[in-house]
Order: sequence, then C-alpha cells, then structure tokens
Amino acid sequence: MKGIILAGGNGTRLHPITKAVSKHLLPIYNKPMIYFPLASLMLAGIREILLITKSEDVPLYQRLLGDGSEFGIQMSYETQDKPEGIAQAVTIGEKFTDGKPFTLILGDNIYFGAGFGARLSDAIKNNEGSTVFAYQVANPRAYGVVNMDENFKPLEIVEKPADPKSNWAVTGLYVYGADAATMVKGMKPSPRGELEITDLNRLYLEQGRMKVEVLGRGFCWLDMGTPQNLLDASDFVRTIEERQGLQVCDPLEIAANHGWI
Ligand code: DAU
Repeated sequence: MKGIILAGGNGTRLHPITKAVSKHLLPIYNKPMIYFPLASLMLAGIREILLITKSEDVPLYQRLLGDGSEFGIQMSYETQDKPEGIAQAVTIGEKFTDGKPFTLILGDNIYFGAGFGARLSDAIKNNEGSTVFAYQVANPRAYGVVNMDENFKPLEIVEKPADPKSNWAVTGLYVYGADAATMVKGMKPSPRGELEITDLNRLYLEQGRMKVEVLGRGFCWLDMGTPQNLLDASDFVRTIEERQGLQVCDPLEIAANHGWI
C-alpha cells in the first residue's frame, strides 16, 4: 500500500515563523512536524511514501528523510508550488500511485490512540471508494464536517459550514480507490480557487462509496495551523512522553517494531 503526505502551502496563519521555514519542519516538542503524519502511515504498514511540497523545500525534506532507508521505507518527492487545493495531491501523485488505491494524509495532522495502525490498515482493506476519519470537535466551522445518521452512515459532507449540522470534523486522513485521480480531473476549483478534498469526498458520497471511520472521544487528533495549535501539540506530546517514558510517533521505533530495520 502506498501513502502520500501533503506538506505544501504557505503556512500564512503562522507568519512570520513560516516565511523562511516550511511549516511541516517546525518542531513539535522534540520532533519535526512531518514525523507525525509519517509515523501514522508507517503504523498502518505503509512503506512506499510520496511527500509533496514546494520545490524550494524539497532539498530540506530530502536532508531530513532521504530515500527513507533510515526508517526501512521508500521515500519519493513531488512538488506543488501553489496551494491549489488538497485534492490536487491526488493528481500530482498519479504517477506514484500508478492506478492503485492509496492513503493521503495532511502534513500537519497528529493521530494518537491505541490501535490506530490497525484501524487505518483495516480501513484500507475495506475501502470501496473513499474512507474518511471523523472526530468530534468544539469548533466544526473550521473544518470539513460530516453529518451522519444514528448508524454513522454519512448523509452530507460540507467544507467549513457557517451553520454545521454536526460536531464531526473530517480529519486530514483519507483512503482512496483506484479511480480517485479520474474523479479529481472532473472537478472544478471552489470559489476560493482550490480543488477541495471535501468536493472529492462528496462525489464518492453521492455514489454511495464514502465510508466514515469514527475516532472516539478517547482518541487524540490535532492539526496545526496556528501558533496556539503548535503550542498545544508540543504540550500534548511532551505530557504523554514524560508521563509514559515512551515516544509519541517515533518513526525509528515504529520501523524497528515492524522489523523493517
Ligand atoms: O485538518 C483537517 C482539515 O484540513 C479538514 O477538516 C478540511 O476539510 C480540509 O479542507 C483541511 O482544512 P484546513 O483549513 O486545515 O486546510 P489548510 O489549507 O490549512 O491545509 C491543511 C494542510 O495541507 C496544511 O498543512 C497545508 C497543506 N496544503 C493545503 C492546501 C490547500 C497543501 O500542502 N497544499 C494545498 O494546496
């Protein structure tokens, strides 16, 4: 199974911190941000990984991650110079995915909870089109929001709704089938000029092929768009690591546990 990490964008909400440094290289307590989405893919057994970032930043990620052999994985790189939408990662990654199903994760998302790797690898096995991961948040207006019936069957998915019908945010982790690139090619940019990942998921939903995996309240999902989010994420990682004496999202440890290194 292949995975794509999207780590482009301008990080404007973090200026001036991100004027000279790619957001996904910023420290989250003791690790660069990019280690967290990388670890999420690795936990599910994904070893072939494409990182998409701005061309000027590719050498920095290559310095950090190289060809992936340190972690027993294969890293490759593609570029997105303008943030023209998360769904664009699907077409940028088309050569890499080579007509096969794949997982896409945003470079600024942290997932932490018991059994997460198995949840993701099961979702990959059971995917019929697209699978999204939903998490309850206090401020759904900031996210893609999915409205579900009492059996968690998705009814509607909306990007940053002014009047959300639920508190279920659609997190930045998506499993797609082989036809995703074809679907994206038929899409148009939104009024803000982006190929919206929510529009892609809505196409699958309309065809009855979008699944929702619910991440319960005992789980931690964080994203990092603002200075406050950065601090919260660092505090979370430090608190857990100091308490347990164990690492959160350490690619070296995950690779060793898989027997890849
Ligand atoms: O974090 C989950 C949310 O991510 C979802 O709930 C939303 O449906 C989804 O649209 C997205 O919303 P954000 O407002 O958080 O997206 P943002 O523009 O901040 O980008 C998220 C990450 O993806 C960030 O690390 C930058 C990267 N990105 C984004 C875009 C639009 C790119 O690399 N290229 C892009 O073109």
